[in-house]
Amino acid sequence: MAKGIFVIGTDTDVGKTVVTGGLVYLLRSKGYNTCYFKPVLSGAINEDGCLIPGDTRFVKAVSGLEEDYQNITPYIFKTPVSPLLASKMEDKPIDVGVIREKFQYLKSKYDYIVAEGSGGLIVPLTDDGYMLYDLVRELDMHSIVVTRAGLGTINHTVLTVRYAQSVGIRVKGIIMNGYTGCSLCEDDNIEVIEKLTEIPVIGVIHRMDGIDVEKLEMGDLKEEFEKRINVKKLIELMNQL
Ligand SMILES: Nc1ncnc2c1ncn2[C@@H]1O[C@H](COP(=O)(O)OP(=O)(O)O)[C@@H](O)[C@H]1O
Ligand SMILES: [Mg+2]
Repeated sequence: MAKGIFVIGTDTDVGKTVVTGGLVYLLRSKGYNTCYFKPVLSGAINEDGCLIPGDTRFVKAVSGLEEDYQNITPYIFKTPVSPLLASKMEDKPIDVGVIREKFQYLKSKYDYIVAEGSGGLIVPLTDDGYMLYDLVRELDMHSIVVTRAGLGTINHTVLTVRYAQSVGIRVKGIIMNGYTGCSLCEDDNIEVIEKLTEIPVIGVIHRMDGIDVEKLEMGDLKEEFEKRINVKKLIELMNQL
């Protein structure tokens, strides 16, 4: 049975896909049979009338994963709004049963799964109030919170971690993304966040040039993750009870 980690963001555009892509790449490059899972994606790319899930395409390209789009991302919406609104606008309700089925399929085929949420944590998925955090809890995965490195991140990170914990999600680590090394607050943010949450910052990913998920530009992402993330620790974290 696969072990997994669910990557939660403090917000949309915070770097969940960049981080998830880096983690899936690292694990796969070290020989761990790992798959990506992005159950719901809105704002898909329209290429010659075909809807392409941009996040999924990016992670597959970075990591060399060859799984079919429909198994990794069962719900693909073209409208760039929240999942529930997109599902209503496109008249295609999200059936959590379908997400469960795909997850079970991936679990039987891979040893590790790194999942990515949509937006932040408090994200409605269905009309009857099933939320993204219900899914994280139900899939019984540990989670990692991806946060921005700069100003404002203490508030967003601590709120997200505390809320996640209050609904029973096991937050095992924090990854700070977009670190520049030239802002007065970045190093202090790391220290304060670790102290307030008592959760370790397991990686600090620097701001890189030439990286764009939608345009499939990956800059030096692979080298950056080789440098900043300890794979053994990541595996230990996924194997923790
Ligand atoms: N470490 C980084 N360095 C430079 N640009 C980044 C970095 N992380 C994210 N970005 C930029 O932000 C965009 C959004 O990141 P993404 O991972 O798609 O966010 P999310 O999945 O949380 O919505 C990317 O396309 C990229 O242009
Ligand atoms: Mg994303």
